[in-house]
Amino acid sequence: MAVGVMDIEGGGASLPGKTTFQVVMCSIIAAVGGLMFGYDIGISGGVTSMDTFLLDFFPHVYEKKHRVHENNYCKFDDQLLQLFTSSLYLAGIFASFAASFLCRRFGRKPVIMSASIFFLLGAILNYFARDLGMLIGGRILLGFGIGFGNQTVPLFISEIAPPRIRGGLNIAFQLLITIGILAASFVNYLTSTMKNGWRYSLGGAAVPALILLIGSFFIHETPASLIERGKDEEGKKVLRKIRGIDNIELEFNEIKRATEISNKVKTPFKELFTKSENRPPLVCGTLLQFFQQFTGINVVMFYAPVLFQTMGSGNNASLVSTVVTNGVNALATVFAVIMVDRLGRKFFLVEGATQMMATQITIGALLLKYLHLVGPITSHAVPLIVLILICIYVSGFAWSWGPLGWLIPSEIYQLEVRTSGYFCAVAMNMVCTFVIGQFFLSALCRFRSGLFFFFAVMNVIMGLFAIFFLPETRGVPIEDMAEQRWKKHWHWKKYFKQN
Ligand code: BGC
Repeated sequence: MAVGVMDIEGGGASLPGKTTFQVVMCSIIAAVGGLMFGYDIGISGGVTSMDTFLLDFFPHVYEKKHRVHENNYCKFDDQLLQLFTSSLYLAGIFASFAASFLCRRFGRKPVIMSASIFFLLGAILNYFARDLGMLIGGRILLGFGIGFGNQTVPLFISEIAPPRIRGGLNIAFQLLITIGILAASFVNYLTSTMKNGWRYSLGGAAVPALILLIGSFFIHETPASLIERGKDEEGKKVLRKIRGIDNIELEFNEIKRATEISNKVKTPFKELFTKSENRPPLVCGTLLQFFQQFTGINVVMFYAPVLFQTMGSGNNASLVSTVVTNGVNALATVFAVIMVDRLGRKFFLVEGATQMMATQITIGALLLKYLHLVGPITSHAVPLIVLILICIYVSGFAWSWGPLGWLIPSEIYQLEVRTSGYFCAVAMNMVCTFVIGQFFLSALCRFRSGLFFFFAVMNVIMGLFAIFFLPETRGVPIEDMAEQRWKKHWHWKKYFKQN
């Protein structure tokens, strides 16, 4: 069991130590894992809307897209095209499960290193792809990179960061995801007019992978991981380096104590699923990620260019629109980094769900009225209005369910089940991303604008969930979560034996 996110948070806020160059450098390097994840999210949508890509791999979709009388909502409906986007997440689920064991046994550093190697190999295979097999094979390798990275990087940052800046650094991981998405949409914009432009877009994934690979030679293994594996002296040495002081005994002892408790738990997954006290965080943490995906965000992230084209924008205009939306995504995440510890988690979750619900209803209504089954959209203003609405929608996500879907699951579990619990959140993210990636275009074809109303209803449900079932976790030390929150909650208290 990983121990690092642990109880340093509790009493740890007063642990001595400086914010050293080593910590900042190690965290930035590790966060490049977020850049890798984001680049991939952002690149797929643009590539699947490029004519040259469709001609090379999906000629039937190309033909359908250009048929004047084709149903507007079904132009891109193709299971294989969707598999291109979603296969990565399927591979990611298996990889993050494997990573949850590997990083305990071998440490975080080798797993982060392997993540970058998988990602690099995937990028190379995709660059040279001659057929669909190579393309999907490359996606699976990328998926392994993402699975390894997403399971390990946030944990690594939490373990290496001084407690007082851990929350901010955690959201900085999400910030790098959004920067990756933005970078990818720029790349797509630049390559869309080039011959074989899709090769450069897909091959470009090698850049963040190489940065991570080279950088990972320079990062330290986390003290918690070293101590967990019996390397106490080495652990102390790293602690001295990253805290910039000699007197690290207090922190060392806290890690040691936490390690002893967590090492007693030999079957963390069994503990997680069978002990009733673990039920509330398990349900809330996993549902948070379920809802994060059912805000519909990846419909926009993966398919925004396709969506804009469906409304009749040209290829170029639709890629520009995507750059704009992704810019808003990154900026709004900065806002979250600054405000989330001031206004609290619940405020943002409820506000974000409301904002997303309102914009989705409006987009659905506009499409219903103006985008008919065949023929171009009947109003020129509509694509622009939809672009503005999508920006409002994305900002609502970026300061709420986006970062908090990752942050809250990392702060609500008891130490013994923290990594297995966190894995459940990561896995839920991957499963739901897969489902959305695989079925959205078919669903758009069948349900048309109704799909936006479906996501609007989901936003109402998740807003209610946040109001009634989620305790406010701002400012509560991790180890006091049960006492201060779960045991006092009107619903969850029944899972705790009263003593
Ligand atoms: C989500 C991704 C999403 C991204 C958008 C992340 O938190 O997990 O699925 O694409 O945010 O910024």
